[in-house]
Amino acid sequence: MRKLYVFDTTLRDGEQSLGITLNVEEKLEIAKQLVKLGVDVIEAGFPASSPGDLDSVRTIAREVKGVIVCGLSRAVERDIDYCAEALRGAEYPRIHTGIAVSPVHMERKLRLSPDLVAEAAAAAVKHAKRYVSDVEFYAEDAFRSDPVFLATVIEKVIEAGATVVNIPDTVGYATPWEYGNLISYIINNVKKIGNAVVSIHCHNDLGMATANSLAGIKAGAGQVEGTINGIGERAGNTSLEEVIMAIYTQRGLYGVEPGVNTREISATSRLVSRITGVPVPSHKAIVGANAFMHASGIHQDGVLKEKATYEIIDPEVVGAHQGMMIILSARSGRHALKHRLEELGYRLESNAMEDVYQNFLVLADKKKEIFDEDLHALMGCETENNNGIILKNISVTTSSVSMATATITLELDGKSVTDAACGNGPVDAVFKAVDRLAGMKVYLEDYSLKSVSRDSEALGNATVKVRCAGIGLVVGRGISTDVIEASAKAYVNALSKIKKKVS
Ligand code: KIV
Ligand code: ZN
Repeated sequence: MRKLYVFDTTLRDGEQSLGITLNVEEKLEIAKQLVKLGVDVIEAGFPASSPGDLDSVRTIAREVKGVIVCGLSRAVERDIDYCAEALRGAEYPRIHTGIAVSPVHMERKLRLSPDLVAEAAAAAVKHAKRYVSDVEFYAEDAFRSDPVFLATVIEKVIEAGATVVNIPDTVGYATPWEYGNLISYIINNVKKIGNAVVSIHCHNDLGMATANSLAGIKAGAGQVEGTINGIGERAGNTSLEEVIMAIYTQRGLYGVEPGVNTREISATSRLVSRITGVPVPSHKAIVGANAFMHASGIHQDGVLKEKATYEIIDPEVVGAHQGMMIILSARSGRHALKHRLEELGYRLESNAMEDVYQNFLVLADKKKEIFDEDLHALMGCETENNNGIILKNISVTTSSVSMATATITLELDGKSVTDAACGNGPVDAVFKAVDRLAGMKVYLEDYSLKSVSRDSEALGNATVKVRCAGIGLVVGRGISTDVIEASAKAYVNALSKIKKKVS
């Protein structure tokens, strides 16, 4: 079995998704979980793109060990200098530099001749090698390039010292056969290709990123790039969890070994979804809520007789605990709660455990039974960091003939304040009333509400994305058995994060 390097770009290409901006702490939390998952490379950001990204890459490089930390740069000296500076504290630094190689990108975007592009590519790698020994080169839009020209560029960058060569399908245009053929062509036609690892990087515009990546691996690629939950620009990147589990379930087909701890997949997926505010569709392969559920009578009958009839993956292998269901309720003690949380992958210090237990009791008072989904939602809510804004009371009146009215009481820096507002529906009225009280200028970009568990008392899990000038996009979350209260909590949570950033 040859080693397959797993390169995670959730924090760089994943963060390029519409509506995602992560701050340093959020990126650090995800990076630490990626280490638990056992990826080989974390692409932490694009340092030259913003001071925030520079800071994130610098922080992750300094604090996250035992993994290659990588920063992206264009084939521009200034970008590479920023990248090198950000990576200074890394145990294993890698600079990922590159340039576009397809005719449309060279002619229309770069306005450079192919010769100048090849020269810039080699010069960028040489410049990066002044700082670090591990330099990855990306040939942007490689799939739509002329393969002969692509091979020339790859030869030049290997000559210049590139240790990894990335052949992206930047716009998700490939099919598995064609992408596999391109990777074979590079492996068979580039001189000294053995001096570098061939990397694959696919996008999902035609829904084929996972299939294309598997074809690339079969053709001999040594590194796969992608994101958790497949997040990324447009239709997203390759879902790493899908590639890893495709290899896991049919090892013999690919002849590679990704050294990943598959049992951390579910926890990583949940964390990325919670922090980015991007929900995982329930039918999503490997990590969707229904990925291991059997609904039809024939299937249920089959799995009860023999799991292998309809189950190709044991849910435990990806950390999706389906085992014995302990139903928790208001009568459950700290020990039972701690035990179930640990089974679900949460390890808590005793102070934090006490806070969670108190929140659990509040929830259990409203809900007869607390399911695993409720516990995940409870663990995903940052009630402790209210930064001086606390939702105290909420009262809403709705009518089918007039506008909704909301009266809200907040505790603002220790003082109780109340105001009311009208809106187009109860949620709009609540947000307007909170705006009047908090006095912040914000713009609501997105609002979603999801039912967390399964009974009529199911928890509502609300997510809001709020934009604030000078700060950017902030995600807030709230849960409650009352969906209006969940929405208000999510909005207040977002405002409290903005308040923290302003102060
Ligand atoms: O899709 C792409 O081409 C990229 C490169 C910048 C690596 O993300
Ligand atoms: Zn990409």
